[in-house]
Amino acid sequence: MKITSAVLAAIVATNLAAFTVQAQVKERPLPRIVKENGRFALFVDDAPYLMLGAQVHNSSDWPAMFPKIWPAMEFLNVNTVEIPVYWEQFEPQPGQYDYTAVDTLLKEARQHHVRLVVLWFGTWKNGSQHYMPEWMKLAPDRYPHMVDKNGQAVDSPSPYANASLEADKSAFAAFMRHLKAADPERTVIMVQVENEAGTWGTVRDYSPVAQKLFEAPVPPEVLSAMQVKAASPSPNWQDAFGPEAEVYFHAWSVAKYVGQVAAAGKAAYPLPLYVNAALRNPLKPDSPGTYESGGPTDNVLPIWKVAAPALDILAPDIYQNDPAVYLKVLELYHRDDNPLFIPETGGASNARFLFSALGLQAIGFSPFGMDYTREHDTGPGSRQPDEFLAWAMNYRLIGPMQREIARLNFDGKLKAVAEVQPAVTETLPFGDWNAVVSYGAKRNGQAVGNAEPTGRALVAQLKENQFLVTGFFCRVDFRPAGTEQQRKSQYVVDGVGQTPSAQIDGKWQHRQFLRVEEGTYESGVFKFVRIWNGDETDWGLNFGAEPVVLRVSLATY
Ligand code: DGJ
Repeated sequence: MKITSAVLAAIVATNLAAFTVQAQVKERPLPRIVKENGRFALFVDDAPYLMLGAQVHNSSDWPAMFPKIWPAMEFLNVNTVEIPVYWEQFEPQPGQYDYTAVDTLLKEARQHHVRLVVLWFGTWKNGSQHYMPEWMKLAPDRYPHMVDKNGQAVDSPSPYANASLEADKSAFAAFMRHLKAADPERTVIMVQVENEAGTWGTVRDYSPVAQKLFEAPVPPEVLSAMQVKAASPSPNWQDAFGPEAEVYFHAWSVAKYVGQVAAAGKAAYPLPLYVNAALRNPLKPDSPGTYESGGPTDNVLPIWKVAAPALDILAPDIYQNDPAVYLKVLELYHRDDNPLFIPETGGASNARFLFSALGLQAIGFSPFGMDYTREHDTGPGSRQPDEFLAWAMNYRLIGPMQREIARLNFDGKLKAVAEVQPAVTETLPFGDWNAVVSYGAKRNGQAVGNAEPTGRALVAQLKENQFLVTGFFCRVDFRPAGTEQQRKSQYVVDGVGQTPSAQIDGKWQHRQFLRVEEGTYESGVFKFVRIWNGDETDWGLNFGAEPVVLRVSLATY
């Protein structure tokens, strides 16, 4: 063919078009929270996604720190990194936004094949205004602090400061707009609005404007959210809520503010949004003023829901070491109007509670402070190697099958538990079968508990008589379930073969392992490794420190 200038032009145009298409990244589906049959899932790339996350330290989102983040994340086997963005960095001058930090972060995260949950450190960070830009800190008349009972300014921003609210709304919306344009890959799957919003040291604002509102009638939506039938038609806060009035009032004020910031961001780019809570002890509620006031603590969740509908999740930061408190918190934040999501937690011994959270359909979990920027530091919030190891064990086990776990949980097929002493055994009902989990089980079946409570187990029903089983430091076995009555009373372990049996309709039924397959998950597919039998199954299925996944087919005889 003779190359005329017209042909040449056509070739150039075709190549250029191809190049442009290649350079354009295909837009992926928007991450979203989905609720079906009373269960929630976080959809990423149009399918349920279990966020196995870790949060970096507060001052780690700077390029010089990245070499100390990624190796830690790789060690932990996370699929998502929680990382802050700082208002003071993002808006160095009023209305001038600096996108360099977020662009570098997106690029680095993609290179390291992780998703991100970005934390907007805006008006509130742990109850204070420390991340407001300098130009705001230097203008306290325009961007005021709260005022305590004695009229003194406290280290917490006023939720009635209109200029602060407008500035935060504009900055957060600009941030979300930029994310929408810069992230068609959906590297960022969720955004946290503020950080532990609320106030330490004073229960509420006592400025004149706050006082006037406190004495005014409670908005009717708050009364109905808190299911209060007031004696008078429009009670003020004190009359309606008595000793809790100030806490409720402050929660309403802070939630209204944060809700407006969230709505402004969501209008720009509708990613799932959440807030995190510094907790009070729900089992022994401390008096108002002794815990962070105004945040989404367990006693004011309905107020936050009604005040801030743009938020998809109210999420607990769980640092409690008492197992009873830990489990109570999980239960309280797993609500019909709230997916369970744990954005911060800590402590090596709490790693097992990932399983308890999965048992309540948690969509994500994330220990705090998991980078190597404070490796040699033993101060508050620093993390020690045993903690890294404890979380890494979980994520190395669950990571390769996170999509299956998320799907099974969304479909209501999964149960999971962790050891809490003094209990040594737990029964998980699955219709015709009961999965029996025991801790510190001897060869003869007697369970005495582990020396340290490290046990955890997960069982999911794949078919009528087939289960996915995994865990650490526990034994799992199955028993024919029998009737409701028998479920309670008729279990026996029949001595000789250690076979769990039940008497059903006057006939003994004994569990029989048809096939116990050990395998690994690779790209979502169960890959057969070997069959367990003999010592590996005769006394139940024992899990130690190794990441082991079993597919178990059962029958009775
Ligand atoms: C909870 C906060 O949300 C985090 O940003 C961090 O300050 C930790 N506490 C420290 O343990």
